[in-house]
Amino acid sequence: MNYSYLIVQEEGSVLSVVLNRPKAMNALNNGLLSEFNLVLDQFERDPGIRLLVITGEGEKAFCAGADIKELVELSALEMKAFLSLGQRTFRRLETIGKPSIAVVNGVALGGGFELSLACSLRIASETASFGLPEVRLGMIPGYGGTQRLPRITGKGKALELLLTGKRISAEEAYQERIVNVVAARDTLQTEVEQWSETICRNSPVSIRMIMEAVDVGSHLSMDNALALETNLDALAADSNDKREGFAAFLEKRNPIFEGK
Ligand code: HXC
Repeated sequence: MNYSYLIVQEEGSVLSVVLNRPKAMNALNNGLLSEFNLVLDQFERDPGIRLLVITGEGEKAFCAGADIKELVELSALEMKAFLSLGQRTFRRLETIGKPSIAVVNGVALGGGFELSLACSLRIASETASFGLPEVRLGMIPGYGGTQRLPRITGKGKALELLLTGKRISAEEAYQERIVNVVAARDTLQTEVEQWSETICRNSPVSIRMIMEAVDVGSHLSMDNALALETNLDALAADSNDKREGFAAFLEKRNPIFEGK
């Protein structure tokens, strides 16, 4: 597959996608989002792929958000279509049943920050920064920022970022539990590999159930969420992964999970 806006590579169990518009700070446009959906098709379809790693091309940006130069001319209906495409894409990423890591290598602004929030985990380089500047543009974050950020960091910090539009450093994002870890530029790749290896060693069946329990459960009452957890766990109990996990423990060896 030839992509115009992405660099896509498969390395073992990991599918890596690089947002590749460095001259525009890897801004999101229709073409990029459409191609991203093709990557999600591959991610969803191929049982050998267990993790998606997303980063930005170049030294400066993970992604500076929606392409402002394209947005400026859009009618309300065209804007609605563009918003809907991004929302559907990010929601699909979040609920696809396999984990994703945003490797935030530079600025993550607006829709770029929102893309990272739709990922399961965020690993930031120490030079990364995060912000939702839409309030300075007469818009609001339209790719889930008003919903996902408060759920991750809490309402107080989320409103601070939403209302000021200011940028925060990777370190501050870490303190606020927005990112999982901060790494120096020269150790970023090793850090990503270590997280990837750890996750890819685990049971894909467990991961799928955990992701559904956390995502769906967060919208339910405690009783309904716990019932969901029980049912997902019972479903996992009938998997080959569970048989392999228990057998490996009893035989004092490492499990080899097939994700079935
Ligand atoms: C289009 C962008 C862009 C963007 C940067 N560029 N961000 N083009 N859309 N979001 C382009 C610049 O126009 C410029 O191209 C080139 O990238 C380099 O940018 P500079 O500003 O010259 O670089 P620098 O001074 O280093 O500043 C980098 C920056 C700044 C901090 C990222 O560019 C910036 O603040 N960008 C806007 C970020 C933003 O507001 N994002 C939110 C978008 S709205 P030229 O050709 O001019 O040299 C959004 C809503 C999503 O995301 C959901 C609803 C649709």
